[in-house]
Order: sequence, then structure tokens, then C-alpha cells
Amino acid sequence: MESIYIHGGIRLQGQVRIQGSKNAVLPVLAATILTKGKNTIRNCPKLTDVFCMQTLLKNIGCRIHFHGTDLKVDATDVDLLRVSGRLKGEAVCSMRSSITLLGALLGRFGEAYLEYPGGCVIGERPIDIHLMALEKFGVTFEEDAGGIHAFTKGLTGTNVKLPFPSVGATENIVLTGVSARGKTVIEGAAREPEIVSLCEFLRLAGAKIYGDGTERIEIEGGLPLHGTEYAVPGDRIVAGTYMCACLAAGGEVFLREAPTEQMARQLYCAEQMGARWQTEKDGLYVQMSERPCAVPYIRTEPYPGFPTDMQSLFLAVAAVAKGECLMEETIFENRFHILPYLEKMGAEIEIIDTNKVRVKGVDTLQGNLVEAKELRGGAALIVAGIAAKDITIVEGCKYIERGYENICRDLRELGVRIYGV
Ligand code: UD1
Repeated sequence: MESIYIHGGIRLQGQVRIQGSKNAVLPVLAATILTKGKNTIRNCPKLTDVFCMQTLLKNIGCRIHFHGTDLKVDATDVDLLRVSGRLKGEAVCSMRSSITLLGALLGRFGEAYLEYPGGCVIGERPIDIHLMALEKFGVTFEEDAGGIHAFTKGLTGTNVKLPFPSVGATENIVLTGVSARGKTVIEGAAREPEIVSLCEFLRLAGAKIYGDGTERIEIEGGLPLHGTEYAVPGDRIVAGTYMCACLAAGGEVFLREAPTEQMARQLYCAEQMGARWQTEKDGLYVQMSERPCAVPYIRTEPYPGFPTDMQSLFLAVAAVAKGECLMEETIFENRFHILPYLEKMGAEIEIIDTNKVRVKGVDTLQGNLVEAKELRGGAALIVAGIAAKDITIVEGCKYIERGYENICRDLRELGVRIYGV
């Protein structure tokens, strides 16, 4: 799919099932390498990032295939010879989560080579915290122009204090810690729900991990891990995306399997904007009957703060809200790619500095030709298009496909006139 066409200005009405979480499933897939056995990952979203991880795992000898929405991963016979070769090519470079493979490969084989990971174009995304932490387990690194060779004569449990609650680094340390001999303690750990998902999977596979979801995680490492079954929770960012579409365009939606307990800060903002919402047994009901009111100040923070992944989506809502919103991005240094496109659609935005913008809501946006430059920014342009008059065309949809299984199908269920070509 190259472009998405949206005929905007129509209130939303309907219900949709929320796909499994991308950010939860990718580290879980990396963790399957540590299990000598067969795993079933239920409710696995079919996304380009997942396909990419599938290729990586296949390359090192995992038997892996989809069976409906289950992803079956048999990691019994992963092959050291293949692993000590290079995990090369686009697959690694195009997906940042491949950094998580480092901890998993070191855990299973004591060595790995990874080309430098990539991801969205949202800032520098260094990996110094990952490397600092892995060194403490007894890992040695040799870097060359293209990547990192990591090896160890044996992983030993350790205490790691993180200078920042990095999600990726916490995941890597957990993966290394379950394989290391003895006890590992992480202080200053990330508390994101995706960390809890990874630890739940590992516990089901036989690991002993305590405290995930808090800033102190303890691991009793070195236990053998077996294959298991794990169900991926609904994606809190996808649910938030469809909620934002409802906030911006108005209407009533039911988001089946939305993980509402993980969405507290988003729901708080939605309520301030004038939405009514209710948690039901199997999802989230959202109703928006008027034009949204601006939330005066939103600042992205590590969980349980306002998620950086929702920043551009709420910017799109702020663009049509009554009043002004000051949006501050504190996690990434370069995450305002959509501003010129929102302005092209008629939004009034003042750039205060590289991480802060003020949006003055306008009565209505005008459909236009715009381009996705990264995943969530792309989804935010779709939200803007849903609220706008006339037709919006969003180009660059390969970024959106990294995180949304089928955004056009889902939004059509909610009454949006949208299709991809
Ligand atoms: C981040 C988000 C996560 C989101 C994901 C995808 C946070 C805290 N993390 O996770 O919620 O789902 O992006 O958009 O909101 N950093 C370093 N050195 C490192 C690692 C990270 O300086 O070794 C910095 C990064 O440059 C960034 C910040 O720490 O400024 C957050 O990084 P991290 O949480 O690791 O990023 P992701 O795991 O990609």
C-alpha cells in the first residue's frame, strides 16, 4: 500500500477489535530464542516489524510460522554456527527491536554480531545504556563500522542502575539476566506494560522475575527455559489512535480488547477534552459529542506518564480543539515531523523550540496531500484527515504498516471513508 485516501468530516460510529501490541510482541519473540522448545504466541499482530523479526529468527534456525493469529516459534534447534555468522542486512537495520536480540543471543550462545539497528526517524536513538549494562554481566564488545560483535565467557548476574528508564535497555537486561548465573537487580527500570509482558512470557517459560512494572526488578537467573504459550495483550497505542480519531471527528466507538488499564494518562487527557468514556468487560467505549477542548499542557514522559507514541496523535486532535495546547516532547529529540503537514492542512502551530510547540486549534482542517515520515506521525495524519473537510491523501504508508495491521479496515469498521491503494 503506497497511499491512503480519506474522505473526512464524518463522525465515527461502530466497533472494532484492537490488534495485539507491537511493542509487547517483538521482545517476546526475541525471548523465544532463550527457550529450548515450542512456543505459541497468541493474538500476534501481522505487521511488517513482526515479519521482519520472523525472518531474523528463521535465519538463526527457528522454525516459525503463523497459524491463524497464533505465531508458532520452535527454538529447539537454533544453530550456533549460523548465529556466530552475522545477522545482516535490511532486516536488522530497519527495525530497532533487533537490539533486543543481543541479550537473547548472548543468553543462548554467549556471542552475537548485530549490524547497527535502525527504526523510525525520530532522533538519534543511541544504545550506550544497553552496552553499559551488558558489560556488567561480563560481555565484551568489539565495534566496527557496521555493527557490534559481542561475546562472553559466561554471564554473571549483576546490579544495574539505569540513568534513564530506557524501555529497550530494560528489556535487554531482563533477557540477559534470566540467562546469567545468580541474581540480577535492575534499579531505575522502565515500568512500561511491555516490560511486564516480556516478564510474564519469561515466567511462563520457567524464569523467576519479580517487580516488573516497578522501577526495581529482581531476577534469579540461570534457570532452564522451556517453550510455552502466551497471549499478547491489545495494543494501547492503536487503541489510543482510534480514540483520537473519535476525539477529533466526534462520534461513538467501542474499542474491543483495548487495554484500558494501560491507558490511564491518555484517558485522562481525553476526558479533559470533553470525551465520555467507560471501561466495559471486553473493551473501551468512547463518546465525543462536541468539538474537543484543548488540554493546556501535555508533556511526554516514561510510563505511567503521557506516552511519546501518542504525542503526534494528540497534536492532530489539538489542531481542531477549542483553545491552545502546549506540547512538550521529552523522550525523543526529533519527533515533530508532522508539523509542516498539519500546517498544510490549515493547523496553526507555533514552534517554541525543537521539543516544544504550541497549537492553536482551528474550527476545521482542510484535506490535502501529506506524507508520513514515521509510524505514529503517519497515523496522526490519518486522524487529521478524518477530522478534515474533503479528501486527504497520506503518502509513505510503509511506515504506518510497521505498527498497524490494517488501519483502513479498522477505521472503516468505525464508519470512516478510507481506503489504501
Ligand atoms: C521508546 C519509548 C517507548 C516507545 C518506543 C517506540 C519511552 C521511555 N520509551 O522506547 O515507550 O514505545 O520508543 O516509540 O518512552 N536512550 C539512550 N541510550 C540508550 C537507550 C536509550 O540515550 O542506550 C535514550 C533514547 O535516545 C531516547 C530515550 O532514551 O531519548 C528513550 O529510549 P528507550 O526507552 O530506550 O527507547 P525505546 O526502547 O525505543
